[in-house]
Amino acid sequence: MRRIITFGTFDVFHVGHLRILERARQLGDYLLVGVSTDEMNFSKKQRFPIYSQDERMEIIRSIRFVDEVFLEESLELKRYYLQTYRADILVMGNDWLGKFDEFKDICEVHYLPRTPSISTTAVIEKIRLP
Ligand code: CTP
Repeated sequence: MRRIITFGTFDVFHVGHLRILERARQLGDYLLVGVSTDEMNFSKKQRFPIYSQDERMEIIRSIRFVDEVFLEESLELKRYYLQTYRADILVMGNDWLGKFDEFKDICEVHYLPRTPSISTTAVIEKIRLP
């Protein structure tokens, strides 16, 4: 039984999100997803996500590749989450390439290529245009 873990905001859910969850799940048997809190996003980007953390969690929980969802309260707690949820593999998009190598002492770390030409920011910008 291989437990996979990944993290993200997953705001304004799009196909890039879906695909990384599908590919993460294919690496093992059980996929845990840490959804970042509204506060954590505010302190990082000075704005709140469009969808609340409860809505984002509800959407992610409904995806058939996802087995369990929890709130990620702080970037500093990664090691704690990896240990608490007994993760065998940490999956991140390759926008984070190399950034989580420090956890290779407790789990495998995989960086998967992002789906090209889509992001939450791009979707928001597109909707904003007149
Ligand atoms: N992701 C992906 N392909 C994309 C967009 C995101 O594989 N085109 C992955 C990210 O690499 C990350 C996860 O989806 O592992 C959650 O990403 P998140 O930051 O929530 O989404 P973005 O669309 O990148 O959001 P933003 O534009 O706000 O940075």
